[in-house]
Amino acid sequence: MEEHIFNIEGLTHRFADGTFALKDLSVTIQQGKKIALLGNNGAGKSTLFLHLNGLLQPTGGTVRFKGKKMKYDRKALLSLRKQVGIVFQDPDSQLFSANVQQDISFGPMNLGWDINVVQEKVKWAMAQTEVTELKDRPTHFLSLGQKKRVAIAGILAMEPDVWLLDEPTAGLDSYFSRQIMALLDSIHQPDKTIILSTHDVNLAYQWADEVIVMNDGKVIYQGDPVSVFHDEEVLLQAHLEKPWVFEMFQALNQSKIPAARDLTPRTKEELLQKMETVSIY
Ligand SMILES: Nc1ncnc2c1ncn2[C@@H]1O[C@H](COP(=O)(O)OP(=O)(O)O)[C@@H](O)[C@H]1O
Ligand SMILES: [Mg+2]
Repeated sequence: MEEHIFNIEGLTHRFADGTFALKDLSVTIQQGKKIALLGNNGAGKSTLFLHLNGLLQPTGGTVRFKGKKMKYDRKALLSLRKQVGIVFQDPDSQLFSANVQQDISFGPMNLGWDINVVQEKVKWAMAQTEVTELKDRPTHFLSLGQKKRVAIAGILAMEPDVWLLDEPTAGLDSYFSRQIMALLDSIHQPDKTIILSTHDVNLAYQWADEVIVMNDGKVIYQGDPVSVFHDEEVLLQAHLEKPWVFEMFQALNQSKIPAARDLTPRTKEELLQKMETVSIY
């Protein structure tokens, strides 16, 4: 039987200003999957992540981690954070030490590991994320892509079972986005669970084993990445487009012939238009 990492029932979160960011949200997360939490800005993705890492407490409903209701005392949170690592969307909320190496060491040091073990893990994490040559640099002068990699290294060094990555590729150019995604693939093992939040349908479609769609503080869909994009109602409700590969494939299937040879379309619209014209012959 698949192990449940998180069971969330009727989770509600009301911020101090009265905003309801999560509204009676229920979802179960299974161990070992690569999960994309998909939803537009304001859907409640970041707020949900803060609950999964115990940084926020529910104003209603329950969050269970490995079958047990979450507790919020120091000891319980330390144990949770050994197992669940979070990479914030904005690396500036994560990085605060004088230099890169110190920053990456901070989490593992807090776990109370032996200094030799910490040093070994930090060295390994820096190599994996390709930040070794930055190790003596002050974190605040790094580029966004470098900061993101350092933030990921800090979590990697703690080797959590569950990863929460809040929009890890947002603001990165495609080269660094691909690099981060490749890194996540290398982190992923059958016993590790990775939950990544994104509003990028192409990324979710390509990468995830499972897609969870959030809209207006609720989970409105959970399933495999192909079936979600067949569900027109969910796409409409969450204001999501179809991934372009998916859309092209649908169009190709309808046209029954390979794309025309005499024109190289520059946009999705041009390609779709071309295929419509060609398919009448
Ligand atoms: N600290 C806060 N105080 C008040 N409202 C907040 C706070 N953080 C987020 N919100 C609101 O909660 C809703 C969900 O936000 P968020 O979880 O950040 O969504 P997402 O990550 O999907 O963009 C939004 O309406 C947002 O404006
Ligand atoms: Mg967010």
